[in-house]
Amino acid sequence: MPKWLDNAVFYEIYPQSFLDTNADGIGDFQGIISKLDYIRELGFNALWMNPCFLSPFGDAGYDVADYYTVAPRYGTNEDLKRLFAEAHKRGIHVLLDLVPGHTSVEHKWFRESMKPEKNAYSDRYIWTDSVWETPENMGCLRGISQRDGSCALNFFSCQPALNYGYYNRTRPWQQSPEDDGPRATLEAMMDVMRFWLSMGCDGFRVDMAMSLVKNDPDSLGTIALWQKVRTFLDREFPEAALISEWGEPEKSLKGGFHMDFLLHFGPSHYNDLFRCQEPYFSDRGLGDASAFVEKYLESRKKAGKDGLICIPSGNHDMHRLARFVEGDEKKLAFTFLLTMPGAPFVYYGDEIGMGYVEGLTSVEGGYERTGARSPMQWDSSVNAGFSAAPTEKLYIAQDPSPDRPTVRAQVGDPDSLMNQVRHLIALRQAHPALQNRSGITFVSNGAPKQPLAYERETEGEKLLVAINPYREEAAFSYREALGDALYAFGGTATQSGETVMLPPVSAGIYRIG
Ligand code: NOJ
Ligand code: CA
Repeated sequence: MPKWLDNAVFYEIYPQSFLDTNADGIGDFQGIISKLDYIRELGFNALWMNPCFLSPFGDAGYDVADYYTVAPRYGTNEDLKRLFAEAHKRGIHVLLDLVPGHTSVEHKWFRESMKPEKNAYSDRYIWTDSVWETPENMGCLRGISQRDGSCALNFFSCQPALNYGYYNRTRPWQQSPEDDGPRATLEAMMDVMRFWLSMGCDGFRVDMAMSLVKNDPDSLGTIALWQKVRTFLDREFPEAALISEWGEPEKSLKGGFHMDFLLHFGPSHYNDLFRCQEPYFSDRGLGDASAFVEKYLESRKKAGKDGLICIPSGNHDMHRLARFVEGDEKKLAFTFLLTMPGAPFVYYGDEIGMGYVEGLTSVEGGYERTGARSPMQWDSSVNAGFSAAPTEKLYIAQDPSPDRPTVRAQVGDPDSLMNQVRHLIALRQAHPALQNRSGITFVSNGAPKQPLAYERETEGEKLLVAINPYREEAAFSYREALGDALYAFGGTATQSGETVMLPPVSAGIYRIG
């Protein structure tokens, strides 16, 4: 288990939209390098970058055409190597995005695989053995080449599924994970990991990690596959971190991932907090966090003491936090995000409350996700300081509102969301009880109009986090005496007997004992 994960706080960068330094309208590695000080200043000590490899960009780079070469629009492999080195100088670890489930149709493996003559890549993807048979429960590509078969898709039509085998097999073309083809696919993916880890990358966020072995109802085949990867990493790169896009920590952590995301899909009730008509963090008090809390505790129990469940502020696949949670509510949401166990993940721009840009035409397979991928807003200059390109050339149009938030405007304002994020990360780093592996006990579960309150504890330190998003006072019962407030937004709690009273729209962190 890499030690650096104990207090890692991640920042997610969508490279297209962070900072453009050569005026082509698209963000680049040099842009990221030049903002590493900004990221470090906020307190982040780890990064996750979305895929930056050669790609036709039918799905924003999640359709990889060459795992070993970065897309020229971002720079060169050497630039990425320099990015790793510059990040390391500042104490920042960097995760790349590994997309093991599928490639682009333009990948040379797929071109070879389409050929009717048997070759080294014939079994790299999942093919039926007749074009008239389609794989069950999956989309497929058929009639696209002279190979007689249909090729399974993993996501969009430009993303054929790599072949890691079938757990339950009912058709002759379905291979076992132990067959040569599937084993070669896994070897190839481990080679990709080896290549980037040797170059200085610190691990991977793994795309659709749950999707690899097919007909695998309890994920036993996929878990076994990841355990092989774990053995490989333990042997060759023990400090490398792995986080899964899976959303079921009881499975992913068993597979050897160190961390799993809580996601906007699956059973987590994550959306109840920030992304629904009545989110818990809205001051109307109609939202309900209790199902989330119940599910979270259940997952923690199943995940065991070593696994980290990571709660993101958002990501490139969901609407921006600021779409449903407004004004000071965002500060309460961040108090929660930055005081929970697991490594926090902040999506670029969320730290200044960037909005979801409504009504955009899809860019590079973004569809409704496009509005959450608009370029970072640095200052009040042209294109919010993102790029010197003509505005119409920007990768994605920016938030047109005249009062759109910017880093520049928030830097000097002690009450800004950005400074609050900085302050909360600093507190987290100063107090082991708030860090990734320390315990949590809920004392108020955020039912409608009720506070969300929880103890965070590690040897020698116990703290209470108490949040009341509701626009009126709210109380909960608590036996222990509240000590000093390490942090208070919107006023401090008062305690009489076993009742703690929280001011409207407030959040605080208190010493206990
Ligand atoms: C999940 C990624 O986060 C998303 O952006 C992508 O479209 C799909 N996986 C397919 O790779
Ligand atoms: Ca550029």
